[in-house]
Amino acid sequence: MDNRTKYTLDEERIPRHWYNIQADLPEPLPPPLHPATGKPLTPPDLTPLFPMELIKQEVSTERWIEIPDEVRDIYKLWRPTTLYRAHRLEKALDTPAKIFYKYEGVSPPGSHKPNTAVAQAYYNKQEGTKRISTETGAGQWGSALSFSGACFDIEIKVYMVRASYDQKPYRRIMMETWGANCVPSPSTDTKVGRDMLAKDPECPGSLGLAISEAVEDAVSRDDTHYSLGSVLNHVLLHQTVNGLEAKELMEMADAYPDIIVGCIGGGSNFAGLFLPFIKDKIDGNKPDLRIVNVEPASCPTMTKGPYAYDYGDSVGLVPLLKMYTLGHGFMPPPIHAGGLRYHGMAPIICHLHKLGLVEARAEHQLATFQAGVTFARTQGIISAPEPNHAIKAVIDEAVKCRESGEAKTILLAHSGHGHVDMAAYDAYFSGKLQNYEYPDEKIKQALAELPKIA
Ligand SMILES: Cc1ncc(COP(=O)(O)O)c(C=O)c1O
Repeated sequence: MDNRTKYTLDEERIPRHWYNIQADLPEPLPPPLHPATGKPLTPPDLTPLFPMELIKQEVSTERWIEIPDEVRDIYKLWRPTTLYRAHRLEKALDTPAKIFYKYEGVSPPGSHKPNTAVAQAYYNKQEGTKRISTETGAGQWGSALSFSGACFDIEIKVYMVRASYDQKPYRRIMMETWGANCVPSPSTDTKVGRDMLAKDPECPGSLGLAISEAVEDAVSRDDTHYSLGSVLNHVLLHQTVNGLEAKELMEMADAYPDIIVGCIGGGSNFAGLFLPFIKDKIDGNKPDLRIVNVEPASCPTMTKGPYAYDYGDSVGLVPLLKMYTLGHGFMPPPIHAGGLRYHGMAPIICHLHKLGLVEARAEHQLATFQAGVTFARTQGIISAPEPNHAIKAVIDEAVKCRESGEAKTILLAHSGHGHVDMAAYDAYFSGKLQNYEYPDEKIKQALAELPKIA
């Protein structure tokens, strides 16, 4: 292992295929179910929402799926992304651990999200879609789809969770700069939104509710499809472009991770990084590899939620997925990591957790900002509140190495920068940031509301 800081690949090395974990799962995924009938979903059930190519990818068990040249050409605007060795953080922590991070904050919208947004816009364009509706939590996904709509001349409508819409006006302006239309959710543009506003005019919104609005929008118009920025199998598939690059770059660094750490909202950035590595664990080549999913203590889906079938949105318009869930009625506390406030989790990650192949832990908001500030003051990058969760866990693991004297190799999935999140840092520095613990009795209530599946 050398002393380099950056490991880079030429753009010709952008992977030509995405890696599909469904080819290598020890047991197949539990099937998604129809929200009205509770019966396993069939591809035609999804055609009002998605182009056929994405529906095929959702259920495919082919190991490698070709990345279209048109998508690779747009990836070239920022990919391959760099693998860094965090020498300065290691030194500050006085740890023998070797810390690497793969940084996705260099994409035009500032996160991993366009890895799938560009692909989804491309397949929609191929099949003649004129308009796409979507939701966004923190605004990263809405920005990524807006950028991708501009690449393929598709009109984009974004329903942005009201709390984030108010906290982060610059995200809306970014979306508008790429030509999209962004409204706060709940909005008056859908029945779901109007019903919610009638009940609670001050409703801060949730990701589940914004999904319901975007889905209602898509199914009520012939020219519109819907697009989801996380959770689904095809989204995780597209994100593996990052993990495949990371594998090659780790080889270049003559290293292999003992621990891979990432933050999870719906699970897409982290799965994109770790899925190409977990194959080595499934194959028995790296039995001790640890994969640590980090979520907020205020939205403890994996660490406290039951593993059950639940709706992907608030009102039950979208399919039932087998996942850890806090219940589709979950209204998240107003933490700043808007992208981590989702009630469910990617079925692939949940399944791997159930099989004992990955771990999960929860972190409190204040400690994650403290970690993010340490990272900014050593490595320079001001991170989004979401990856600060993973940085907190990485620092803990590195400190454990200091105590045990072990020189473990840690790989961090760094999902994006925080340049549009400075209000959150300001709240942290001025002592206004609070911790929120999600109460156990609310989880019990949510359990009672889960759909009964035979
Ligand atoms: C920077 C960043 N990281 C992580 C996430 C969480 O999403 P996912 O778990 O799908 O990667 C988001 C979601 O908005 C995000 O913006």
